[in-house]
Amino acid sequence: MGQRQLDLTPVVQTREELAAALANVVVPRAVVMTMGGLHSGHGDLMTLARECVGDDGHLTVTIFVNPLQFAAHEDLSKYPRTFEDDVALCSERSADLIFAPTPDVMYPNGDPEVTVDPGDLGLRFEGIARPTHFRGVLTVVSKLLNLTRPDYAIFGEKDYQQLTLIRQMARDLDLPVEIVPGPTAREESGLAMSTRNKYLSPTA
Ligand code: PAF
Repeated sequence: MGQRQLDLTPVVQTREELAAALANVVVPRAVVMTMGGLHSGHGDLMTLARECVGDDGHLTVTIFVNPLQFAAHEDLSKYPRTFEDDVALCSERSADLIFAPTPDVMYPNGDPEVTVDPGDLGLRFEGIARPTHFRGVLTVVSKLLNLTRPDYAIFGEKDYQQLTLIRQMARDLDLPVEIVPGPTAREESGLAMSTRNKYLSPTA
């Protein structure tokens, strides 16, 4: 006997498809936002999201490599894209819906005129080397929150500055969402799991 086929989580790509898929969802909703290249650390965030909304709740995973948070010299074009594997992981972790827009869907008028200013913290720590990064992150997170309208949004503690800024944005802009932190998943070596670990090579 062969293995039972896993039902794949449906994927929507446009705002209209997303709105239609969420129109009749009246149960608690959670979102896990990602840029794809998913690993089991993302899977753990999905499991936490499921715990927030319960078995009958609704979990959306977004997969979008957000150009706005990459500077011109950064790795936007080579950022790992593993869409089929990502869909499989979302399905294993019982996500109800995947929203995977293109840049044209997210930014139909090109780069937005109005963006979310992360304030002083956006220019410290990682922001010293990446001064435009957190503006891009907060802008896309606020757009994705508006499009998915979740009760809970889960973000990993691995990106602690990002998590802190998203919490501050939700607090300062009165966003109607609970930001839930997810613990950092680690490799056996202790290295924090990250999509960009693919760029690393072992050293002697
Ligand atoms: O942490 C990430 O993967 C990204 O910064 C996020 C939150 C999905 C926004 O693009």
